Amino acid sequence: MRRWSRNIRPSGIYIDATFGRGGHSRAILQQLDEQGRLIAFDQDPEAVGYGREQFADEPRLTIEHCNFNQVADVVEQYGLTKKIDGVLMDLGVSSPQLDDAERGFSFLRSGPLDMRMDTSRGETAREWLARVKPADLVNVLKRYGEEKFAKRIATAIVETREQREIEDTGDLAEIISNAIPVKAKYTIARHKHPATRSFQAIRIFINEELQAVEQGLKGAASVLAKGGRLSVISFHSLEDRIVKRFMRDISSRPKLPAGLPVMEADIEVPYRLVGKPVVAGEAELEANPRARSARLRVLERRI
Ligand SMILES: C[S@@+](CC[C@H](N)C(=O)[O-])C[C@H]1O[C@@H](n2cnc3c(N)ncnc32)[C@H](O)[C@@H]1O
Repeated sequence: MRRWSRNIRPSGIYIDATFGRGGHSRAILQQLDEQGRLIAFDQDPEAVGYGREQFADEPRLTIEHCNFNQVADVVEQYGLTKKIDGVLMDLGVSSPQLDDAERGFSFLRSGPLDMRMDTSRGETAREWLARVKPADLVNVLKRYGEEKFAKRIATAIVETREQREIEDTGDLAEIISNAIPVKAKYTIARHKHPATRSFQAIRIFINEELQAVEQGLKGAASVLAKGGRLSVISFHSLEDRIVKRFMRDISSRPKLPAGLPVMEADIEVPYRLVGKPVVAGEAELEANPRARSARLRVLERRI
């Protein structure tokens, strides 16, 4: 997985689109000289606060509290469009977000039903679950959680909320778990809680994660300099599918209608795929079991 940090140009300009706790930013900074520059993004005010404090003495780093779907605009404001040597996107939620019960992402530790990465705006999971139409809830559970029992789970949530308020993540996890047939629960992989898929679905919906990934990929590719690379680490198949399609399409020759006085082979494709997707090795998995489903894909701007 460390492939993303190979070939860093010491005086280059880089973007860490998902700062988190700055692990990747630190690794990039270690390879930059005094001329090098790093712009980091995170939509989570806690991540940004932590980063600005921890890296207060680091003049080469600027941290933006911003969704990475704005990456092209922010880079344009800096006057750096097409001057970026590399963008890294490490998608999804961070370990601190998952581990802090107060953020509401965890079904293992009970906390308020929030699930927003950007706590400064938007609707919480609690607010949404209190008002969502049953059919829309079924859709979200199916689409973003690929949940087989979406209808049963949605019915259980709606029936509960008609009688009482759904209190916290523990309460929601129990309602979901009770809605799944006992037999099916035995066949769900051992490391997975029966509410895993539903929590993933609600979180993706609340944070509009897949839309942000689509916009972020486009923006990130557009700001790269010639030879600049976009490295994306995804954690589940829904994200990876978007990354894979985006990189495949942008690095393929366009299909031309017949009869044009141009040959497809004469069209220069501005991007190329770099290598095959990379998955975590055994040593990395031992140190970080959450990397189990991670996949790294890399794209390079050629012209
Ligand atoms: C998997 S963690 C990144 C961990 C980071 N690479 C590190 O070394 O600590 C993902 C981070 O990206 C942030 N994030 C996710 N989607 C985002 C988006 N659309 N815009 C900005 N930040 C986002 C999350 O808030 C979280 O802090």
